[in-house]
Amino acid sequence: MNTEATLAPSNLHSPRPGVAPGVRFFDAHPTPDDLRAEVLAGLSSMPKRLSPKLLYDERGSQLFDAITELPEYYPTRTEIGILCDHGEEMADLLGRGRVLLELGSGSSLKIRILLAALEPEIYIPIDISREHLRASAESLAEHFPALAIHATCADYSVPFELPIEGDREGLAAFFPGSSIGNFEPEEARALLGRVAKLIGVGGRLLVGIDLQKDRATLERAYDDDRGVTSAFILNVLERLNRELMADFDLKAFVHRSFYNDALGRIEVHLEALSEQRVQVAGEQFVLAAGERIHVENSYKYDIAGFHQLAAGAGFVPERVWTDPHRLFSVHCLRVEAC
Ligand code: AVJ
Repeated sequence: MNTEATLAPSNLHSPRPGVAPGVRFFDAHPTPDDLRAEVLAGLSSMPKRLSPKLLYDERGSQLFDAITELPEYYPTRTEIGILCDHGEEMADLLGRGRVLLELGSGSSLKIRILLAALEPEIYIPIDISREHLRASAESLAEHFPALAIHATCADYSVPFELPIEGDREGLAAFFPGSSIGNFEPEEARALLGRVAKLIGVGGRLLVGIDLQKDRATLERAYDDDRGVTSAFILNVLERLNRELMADFDLKAFVHRSFYNDALGRIEVHLEALSEQRVQVAGEQFVLAAGERIHVENSYKYDIAGFHQLAAGAGFVPERVWTDPHRLFSVHCLRVEAC
């Protein structure tokens, strides 16, 4: 794992004095070179694209947290309702006292619902947003002082290692929020396959999946009245201006979200209102008036379709819970082969 200069050595693998004695921090955050290469490749492709993981710098993580509290954004509160209603049963199935990893742990709020019942040996929150992860891990430690937390800053869309020793099998994993919806189905299957390898045969995954529903509900959730989603998406350009010496004019772009029912996904784009010439990390890009940068997909599944995807990664469905309106689903899957 790499350790970047921005991480103070005193914080590496050791807690700050007086705070969060249970927290250790492991840093495999992508480097500035990784960011540059990925952004230049995306802006050189046709159509232009930027990966949704780029949305999660510190400000982006804060804006996403604000989205989860919007009246239009039903997924978070619906999933939390399902976790609250069935947490004990979920803990019984996942298994108590195990190593528990979480992909895209964000503020680590959902896991709090399950922690008392799961009593993990070690909790490994994995997130790409470094300072947000650090603050979340420390806040969690204050509420669960006896918990061993191995906070791991990593990009889970590519292979990564867990910060634990030795060969282990039958781990538990939590992947909430329908974040897997950001991946093309084929990439989602590959990611689930890597999760299966990490947790081993007999390991169990609790995963949140947003369900197919009417267009109006979906489109409202990705284009709220207060403009928080718009600020969240536009923030990626501000990040590139800051981190890659780009010169995007934020007033010249608008956020566009719509449901693509042929592909079963919400698409999120940034559209140039007029022709734009932009410098990014020393290279020039031209956008025609009306041209879009594709920033995010959020695939919606039905239960059978998701089970099929998971089966392709070696998982057997054990149980599925939904809310009364069938907006959202939480699945317990077991690794049969990996
Ligand atoms: C964090 C990927 C689950 O797709 O609903 C929210 C991100 N983008 N509003 C989603 C998001 C715009 C979110 N995930």
